[in-house]
Amino acid sequence: MWSFKRLLALPTILGLLSSAYGAFFYPNTQASLLEHILVDTHGAHSSGFADAITPCTNYVSGNQSMGRTTAAQWIRVAFHDFVTADVASGTGGLDASIGFETLREENSGSAFNDSFTFFRPYVNPVISTADILALSVVMSVGNCGGAQIPFRAGRIDATGGGAFGVPAPETDIPTTLGFFSGAGFNQVDSIGLTACGHTLGSVHHGGFPTVVGPEAVSSDNLAGGIHFDTTVANFDPLVVHEYLNGTGQRGGPLVTSFNVSSRSDLRLYESDNNLTMIALGEQGTGFLNTCVGLLQRMIETVPKSIVLSDVVTPMEVKPINASLDFDSKGNLFFSGYIRILTPTPSSPPSAPAFLTIASTTPIPLTPEPAQGQSIFGTTAFYPFATKVIDAGSFAHFSVTGHGSHITFPVQTSAFVVPSLTSVSSTSTTILNFTVATRSRVAPTVKVQVPVGQQGTLGPAIKTFDNVAVNNTGRKAGYELWAGSVDVGALATGALSVAILDGEGKEVDVGFF
Ligand code: HEM
Repeated sequence: MWSFKRLLALPTILGLLSSAYGAFFYPNTQASLLEHILVDTHGAHSSGFADAITPCTNYVSGNQSMGRTTAAQWIRVAFHDFVTADVASGTGGLDASIGFETLREENSGSAFNDSFTFFRPYVNPVISTADILALSVVMSVGNCGGAQIPFRAGRIDATGGGAFGVPAPETDIPTTLGFFSGAGFNQVDSIGLTACGHTLGSVHHGGFPTVVGPEAVSSDNLAGGIHFDTTVANFDPLVVHEYLNGTGQRGGPLVTSFNVSSRSDLRLYESDNNLTMIALGEQGTGFLNTCVGLLQRMIETVPKSIVLSDVVTPMEVKPINASLDFDSKGNLFFSGYIRILTPTPSSPPSAPAFLTIASTTPIPLTPEPAQGQSIFGTTAFYPFATKVIDAGSFAHFSVTGHGSHITFPVQTSAFVVPSLTSVSSTSTTILNFTVATRSRVAPTVKVQVPVGQQGTLGPAIKTFDNVAVNNTGRKAGYELWAGSVDVGALATGALSVAILDGEGKEVDVGFF
C-alpha cells in the first residue's frame, strides 16, 4: 500500500506551518500537493502560488509599472514550450525544455525566466517544473475569469533544449501553420488557440520593438505593453469581438502593428477568411469552453513515454499533514488537519466533524476560525492530535460529519519521524533524518533533492540511493534508524526521504 508523509520546511511549498510536520497524503503525494496549489489559493493555509496572479493584473517578478502581467506570461511560456512538439514522433511538448531555450530569438521577452524563477520553490521530487507550468495555465485561466481546465499530473522535465519552431510576429502563414501542425493543431485549432491565448496580456515594446513602437513606453508602462483587448487581465471572449467589430484594441498589436510584416494575428485570422474568428464570435461565452478544450490539449501534449495521471480534482474532505510522530515521552501520536471544502454558494460548516482512528471513540473536531477561499469554495481546517495505543491495528481512520463518512487508509509499518528529522541549508543542504520501522531489519532509504542545474532555472532532481542508517534505539515498539545526507548543493525546494521495501517500492515518503 502507498501512503505518504510530509515534513514542512518551506512555507511556500505547503503554506501550512513553518515548523516541521509529516503527513499521509491522499489520494497520493503528487495529487495531494498539486491539489493544494490548485485549491488553497487564498486565506488560511494558502500555498502562495496564486498570489502571483492576484489580482490578475499583478506582475510578481518586478515593478507593477513595468506593464507586464504574470497570469499572461505563464500562458505564453506554456505555449512556447508546447508548440515545438513533434507529435508524429512523440517528442517535445510540455516538458519544461523551454527553460533551456530562453536565449533563442524565438523566445524573446522576460516571461520565461520570470516564470521559472517563481515556479522554482514549488518543484520537488514528485512535482516537475512541467507539471507546475501546466498547472499555471489552469490557474491563470480559472482564476482570471475563464472556465476550469481539467488538470492531470505526471509530466517529466527535459534535460536539455528541444526543437526550434515558435511562430514569431513576422513568420509567414505556411510556416506558422506548419509549426502548429507539427504540434498536432490544424488551422482552426491554431486560430482558436491563439485567440484564447491573446485574451490576456500584451505585446511589449521591450522585447518586441518591431511590433510596438517606443511611444507605448510611459512611467506606468515601462516595458511599453499594448493590450490584446480592453480587458487585459480577464480571460474572456472580448479579443474576438474587438477584432471582428474593429472596437477597443481591435485584436491587439499583432493585428494593428505599424509594421505590416509584424501583423501575425491578422494574417492568421484572415488565413481562412475570418471564418474561424466569426464562428468563435458566434459562440458568445461558449468561447470559454472552446478555450478549455484547446488549452487542455496544449498542456496535455507531452512526450509519448509519459502517462498522465487522473484529473486532479478538489477534495471535499482532505487530510492534511496527517502524520505519525513520537512525543517527548516516546508515545506514538497521530496529528494533522482535516480540510473541509464547501463549494460556493453553500455556507461553510459550523458543526464539528468527528475523527475515528481504528475502533476508538470518535473525537470531535472544531474548525480553526481562519478559513480559506478559492474559486472552488470555502475551506475550513479542523486540527486533530491523538495518541495511538496500538499501531498494529491502526490501518485506517474516518472522518464523519457534514453528511459524509469517509475512510482513509494508513500504513504504520514504517515512517519517517518528523520530530527527529531536520534540514539545514547554509553553503550546502544537510539532511539529518530518522525513520521508524516495526521490523528489526535495517530499512532501505532513498533521498531525493531538487537542486539548481546549468542552463535552466528549472531544478534537477538529485538522488541518493541506499543511504546508510544506524540503529539509535526503540520507541513505542518501533526501531529507530538515523542517517544523514550532505547534498553538496543547496536544495531549491522540498526534498524527500523514502523508505523502500524489499522490492524497491516506496512504503513511506516524507518531505522536508
Ligand atoms: C502565430 C502564433 C503566435 C504568435 C506569432 C504570437 C506572438 C506573441 C507575441 C509577439 C507576444 C508579445 C510578448 C511580449 O511582448 O512579452 C505574445 C504575447 C502573448 N501570447 Fe502569443 N503568439 C502566438 C500564439 C499564441 C498562443 C497560441 C498562445 C497561447 C495559447 C499565446 C499566448 C500569449 C500570451 C498569453 C501573451 C501575453 C504575454 C504577456 O502579456 O506577457 N500566443 N504573443
